[in-house]
Parts: sequence; C-alpha cells; structure tokens
Amino acid sequence: MCPIPLNWKLGDPILSPVEDMLSLDPVEIGSKATYKLLIGAIVPRPIAFISTVNSQGICNLAPFSFFNGVSSNPPAVMIAITRKSHGEKKDTLRNIETTHQFVVNSVNEWMVEPMNQCSAEYPYGVNEMQTVGLTPLPSQKIQPPRVKESAIHLECELYDTLNVGDGSEGSSTIVIGKIVMLHIFSAAYKDGRILLEEIKPISRLAGTSYGHTNDIFQVPRPKLFQK
Ligand SMILES: Cc1cc2nc3c(=O)[nH]c(=O)nc-3n(C[C@H](O)[C@H](O)[C@H](O)COP(=O)(O)O)c2cc1C
Repeated sequence: MCPIPLNWKLGDPILSPVEDMLSLDPVEIGSKATYKLLIGAIVPRPIAFISTVNSQGICNLAPFSFFNGVSSNPPAVMIAITRKSHGEKKDTLRNIETTHQFVVNSVNEWMVEPMNQCSAEYPYGVNEMQTVGLTPLPSQKIQPPRVKESAIHLECELYDTLNVGDGSEGSSTIVIGKIVMLHIFSAAYKDGRILLEEIKPISRLAGTSYGHTNDIFQVPRPKLFQK
C-alpha cells in the first residue's frame, strides 16, 4: 500500500506505484465496456437521490451518481441522466422536462438499501418513495417533495439542459439545476459548515461497490506559492 505522504515538501520525490499504462480507445472497446471503465475511473462519486413529480403530481425517486456541484453564484448542481436500452428517457428526466423542478436529497449511511431499491426500473407513475417506505416532506419553494430521512435537501429549479450523444443507449442529458433552497439536518450544521460525521455520506464506486466517508484527513491549502 502506498503511504499518504502527509509530510511531503516541494521538491521531495513522489512515492507512486504507477508504472506501465494500458491505453484504450473508447471507439474500439465500445460504449458498454467504456461505461464499466468510467465508473471505476471516476471515483468516488457523490450520489444525488432525485425526487420529482409528474404532471399528475405523482412522485418519482431515483439515485444518480453522475452528479456534482457546478457553481455557487448562482448555486447550481448537475446530474447526467443516461438513456435506457432503446433510447427512452428515464422517468426523472421526463418529469424534470415537464415540471422544471427537482430535489437533490443526500444518501447517508442509514438509507443505502432503500436508495438502491429506487434504482430498479419501475413503470412510469409508480411512487418509489412510497414503495420503499421513505417519508415525503413538502418542499418550501417547489412542488416535488423532499425525503425526510435524508440529511441534506437541495430544492432546484431547472437552469438548463445539454444533450450529449445522439439519444441512443448510453448517451445522456446533463440537467443543471439552480438551487433555490437548502435544508440541512440541524445537528450537522455548525458555524456555517456541515459536519460530515453527522451526515455520514456514502459514495458510489465501480459496479455494486460503495464507500463510507470515515477516514478523513486534513491537507491545509497553500497560501502562497513557495519554492
Ligand atoms: C448509486 C446509483 C447511481 C446511479 N447513477 C446514475 C446516473 O448517474 N445516471 C443515470 O442515468 N442512472 C444512474 N443510475 C441508475 C438509475 O437510478 C436507474 O436507471 C433508475 O431506474 C432511474 O429511475 P427513473 O426512471 O425513475 O428516473 C444509478 C443507480 C444507482 C444505484
């Protein structure tokens, strides 16, 4: 195992185990093989547990790990929603395109299994939040409900979308949401910061692997470039 060189200084040698590299052209290996490599290469990934409603107000809930923050002015997040096997849109995307609203709910240690159940392909109009036994909590500024059991809720309004690919399987729509309200488990909020030990976030790794966030270390940012 490579030790974490926390006492490393500018100019010190880097203790890396990396030697020979394998080079793969995504066109040659195809999109399915590329997908498997991407979910192993882009790790760890945060998980957005997205609640939306359809035009009848029925809730939909599904996890997405091609997810990240984008900006703080305006505060914004992105999720990439891939197409299904015959190019159909997932329910989350259909609902966001219809209502222009969604909530990003966090996935914490205590809710991994219900989150995973919500990734099953339920028919359109099935309320996964009710099916798995999670509790809807009204949002303040938008229609889709929040997930009461999640430690963080971000109410979002659609800012923009960008299609990547031709709409066939594996291509995606990037959804950018402007955060219009943040909700934080009060025990996890202190002096303007979020206490990770209270929210116990889970990350997605490759395949069916997940990671805890419990081996945290500090690396102070350099103030000035020093040589
Ligand atoms: C942890 C996890 C992360 C996922 N990340 C994504 C993702 O980033 N993009 C995506 O399109 N599907 C992702 N999925 C699969 C969707 O959750 C799945 O296709 C789900 O059925 C979509 O539900 P919907 O049709 O109700 O929107 C993920 C599944 C899991 C378990």
